[in-house]
Amino acid sequence: MNPVDIVEPLRSRWSPSVFDATHELTDSEITRLLEAAQWAPSSGNRQPWRYLVAVRGNAAHEALVPHLSRGNSGWVPRASVVFISVAVVDTEDDEPGDPTYPLHDLGQASAHLTLQAKAMGLDAHQFAGFDHDAVGSALGVPANARVVAGIAVGVRGNPAEVSERDAEREHRVRSRRPLVETAYGDRWGAPWPGLAPSGPTTAEDSA
Ligand SMILES: Cc1cc2nc3c(=O)[nH]c(=O)nc-3n(C[C@H](O)[C@H](O)[C@H](O)COP(=O)(O)O)c2cc1C
Repeated sequence: MNPVDIVEPLRSRWSPSVFDATHELTDSEITRLLEAAQWAPSSGNRQPWRYLVAVRGNAAHEALVPHLSRGNSGWVPRASVVFISVAVVDTEDDEPGDPTYPLHDLGQASAHLTLQAKAMGLDAHQFAGFDHDAVGSALGVPANARVVAGIAVGVRGNPAEVSERDAEREHRVRSRRPLVETAYGDRWGAPWPGLAPSGPTTAEDSA
C-alpha cells in the first residue's frame, strides 16, 4: 500500500503484471469503465478520445497480441480487457494536426478509466510497448487519429502461473521524483516555496 496521504483510489493504485487469465468482465462492467472516460473534461469539450475494446477472442485482441513487445507479450493477454487508446488529432478547432490538447485529454480520460477500474475492485496497467502502426492499420484507425497506448484491466492472478520476470515485478519498489524537482515557483527549476514536508518517494507493490 502506498504510504502517501492521498485519496483513494489514487492511493492504492499501481500497475500489476499478473492478471487472472480466466477472469472475464461483463459488457456492462466494461461499459462503466468507458463511461468514466466519457465524462472526463476536455478542451472545448471535443472529447478526442477513442478506445478499441479488446477482449480475449475478439478481432481487436487478435490484432493486438501478435504486436505486443516481448516484455508485454506475457502479461497483457491475461487481462480481462484491453482498451487501445486513440487520440483524434485533427479536430475542427485545433491547429490542424496539433496533438497538444487531444493527447492531454486522452491521457486524462484514460486516467479516469483506470481509477474507475480501481474503484470497482479491478486493477489496470497501461502500456505503450506494442507496434502502434500495425495495430492501427489492422483495426482501421484513420490518418487523423493516433494510437497512443493500451490499458489492460483485470483482477490479480496467481504469480506461479506467469514467467519469473512478470512475477518478480509484483515486488518491485515503486519510486517517484521528489516534489522539489516537480513543482516550481519563481522560475523553472526553483522549487515552489510553499511545499510542505511530503511523504516518502518509494512504495512497495503487492498491497
Ligand atoms: C503511457 C504509458 C506507457 C507504459 N508502457 C508500459 C509498457 O510498455 N510496459 C509495462 O510493463 N509498463 C508500462 N507502463 C507502466 C509504467 O511502467 C508504470 O505506470 C510506472 O512504472 C509506474 O508504476 P505504477 O503504475 O505501479 O505506479 C506504461 C505506463 C504508461 C502511463
